[in-house]
Amino acid sequence: MARILITSGPTRQYLDPVRYLTNASSGRMGAALAEAALRAGHQVSIVSGPVHVDYPQQAEVYPVETTDQMLEVVQKLFPSHDGLIGAAAPCDYMPHRVSSAKLAKSGRPLQLELIETPDVVATVAQAKKSGQWVVGFALETEDQRFRAIVKMQKKCCDMMVSNGPSAIDSADNEVEILAADGQTIAHVTGSKQDVASEIMNSIEKHLMSRS
Ligand code: C5P
Repeated sequence: MARILITSGPTRQYLDPVRYLTNASSGRMGAALAEAALRAGHQVSIVSGPVHVDYPQQAEVYPVETTDQMLEVVQKLFPSHDGLIGAAAPCDYMPHRVSSAKLAKSGRPLQLELIETPDVVATVAQAKKSGQWVVGFALETEDQRFRAIVKMQKKCCDMMVSNGPSAIDSADNEVEILAADGQTIAHVTGSKQDVASEIMNSIEKHLMSRS
C-alpha cells in the first residue's frame, strides 16, 4: 500500500474580484486516477482546483483555488506521501497586478501584464526524498513525445504521461506513458478510467518496485 497524492483540475488567477484566468481542465483524469489507485489498495489524497466531478469518497480532498494555494497544500502534504501524480492543469500565468475593485470598461483595449505562477510538480519534484516519486502529465499540440521527455527532465519527474489537446474536458484520452529514460512503457487509448488503470500499473511496476 502506498500513499499517493494527486493534483487535479484547473486553478484560477483573478484579475479583479470577479474575473479570472483559468483553463478547460475538468478534473476527470484526476478522479479516474484516484479511483484506480484506491482500487489497487492505495491511500489517496487529492489537491483539486474548482471542478464539477465527484471524487471517490475514500479519498481525502483538499480544495484550492489558485496555483500558489495548490503549491502550498502540496508542499505540506508531500512529505507524508510516497508519490505525486500531477494531473492538474494549474494556470501558468497570473496578472502582475490584481485589482481590488472590479475593473470598469473604458471603451479602450485592456492591457494585461502576466507573470508566471510557480510550477507545482517541478518545485515538489526537486525536493523528493529517497524512494519518493513524481509523475507528470504533458499536454502538447506538436512533437508530443519529444516535448514530454524534455518536460520530464526539466521538472525532475520519474515518469511522464504524454497526451494531446483532445484530452481536455473529454471522457476519453489517448496517452503514451514514458519512463525516465524516455522509453515508451505503454500506449493507451480508451476511457480516462482505462488510461488511469494503465498509469497505475506502470507506476506500480516501474516506480513502486524501486523502493
Ligand atoms: O502545463 P505543463 O504542460 O507544463 O504541465 C506539465 C506538468 O506540470 C503537469 O503534470 C502539470 O500538472 C504540472 N504543472 C504544475 N504547475 C504548473 C504547471 C504545470 O504542477 N504551474
